[in-house]
Amino acid sequence: MRQFPASPITVLIDGTPQYNLAESYGRDLSVAEVLGPAGLEPLGRLSLGYGTSAGDPALREQLAARLRVPAGQILVTAGAGAALFLAALLHSDGEVVLGVPCFPPMLDAVRGIGAQVVTVRSRFDDGYRIDLDQFAASLSASTRLVMFASPQNPSGTLITASEVEQMLAAMSRTCPGAFLLIDETYREAVYGDAPPAPTFAGTSPRLLTCASLSKAHGAPGLRIGWLTVPDPALYEQLRLAKFNSSVACGATDEFLAALLLARADEILARRGAFLAKARTTVELWMEQQTRHLRWLRPHAGAFCCAQLNPVIFGPEQITRFHAQLAEHQTAVSQGPWFADSPNIIRIGLAYEPLTKLEKGLTIMADTLNAAIGK
Ligand SMILES: Cc1ncc(COP(=O)(O)O)c(C=O)c1O
Repeated sequence: MRQFPASPITVLIDGTPQYNLAESYGRDLSVAEVLGPAGLEPLGRLSLGYGTSAGDPALREQLAARLRVPAGQILVTAGAGAALFLAALLHSDGEVVLGVPCFPPMLDAVRGIGAQVVTVRSRFDDGYRIDLDQFAASLSASTRLVMFASPQNPSGTLITASEVEQMLAAMSRTCPGAFLLIDETYREAVYGDAPPAPTFAGTSPRLLTCASLSKAHGAPGLRIGWLTVPDPALYEQLRLAKFNSSVACGATDEFLAALLLARADEILARRGAFLAKARTTVELWMEQQTRHLRWLRPHAGAFCCAQLNPVIFGPEQITRFHAQLAEHQTAVSQGPWFADSPNIIRIGLAYEPLTKLEKGLTIMADTLNAAIGK
């Protein structure tokens, strides 16, 4: 039997800490907010038949208009998670090159389906920029798929257009048949009225993107994401892989997703205003913690990365820090969940209302002191 690695990050959906500073998105939307002034009536009339294998045509048109690619290149999936899984599955006959640290299921799924994994590590001290020389050296004639996230999880660091160009150039030299998948799940989770980074969708025939309504929009329970796939043969295989695993996405999910997307600008603006306030709250708090913590100001995403000062936080202090946080019903995400160093933590900025975020940060400041015996 194939084995998927144990995944401690499942605590994020299975646990219920009082101060949840571990999450990667903001407040959940309610169905009523998505339905808007029309109320329940349209939902009541929805037929619960199967959806289509590629995804609801109107929903694909909406996504195509937002991403400026043809609707025929959009495959609707059960979240970006399923998009990553399907892409990895199709390329598991060769090597899959992955940027780490990363969203844990990205790495674990590739391992679980038995593909050869090659990792390209980026580091806190380099601001999680990709080492392009290391990237080029990690490619081989057996590379089938390359997967990176922009913004990256856990740091919120964006990959630049020039970096993507250089990655594609290296791929065309070593593995010209391989595809580059950029996971843009957090692209639209911006602060205030800052514009999101342009999507990479449609910028190269060998480049795929995926994203979802889970994070920036706040509807992870909808399980609606998508892939953009310019290559028709690959698109068809992905559509068949989706059909063979789940037939179609849920009709209710697709219906609500279309309503949400119709009001996406208004919803994103409201959430962006809150994200900006939350990031400022964390930034001010970080200024008080410089002895214990360094942080990276994220480009986008409802989280940031911080490093527990390695001079004072060894393995014992780090274990004590997390144990004491748990005693206070407070959670942050831990570096090793993302294949990163134990000194790294990811702090969710916007899942809690500001008063609870502030309370959680106060508990964390006390815990940092207590963990080093102060
Ligand atoms: C970088 C990244 N990609 C994809 C996902 C999957 O999200 P979903 O399947 O809810 O769209 C996550 C979830 O945390 C993520 O962090």
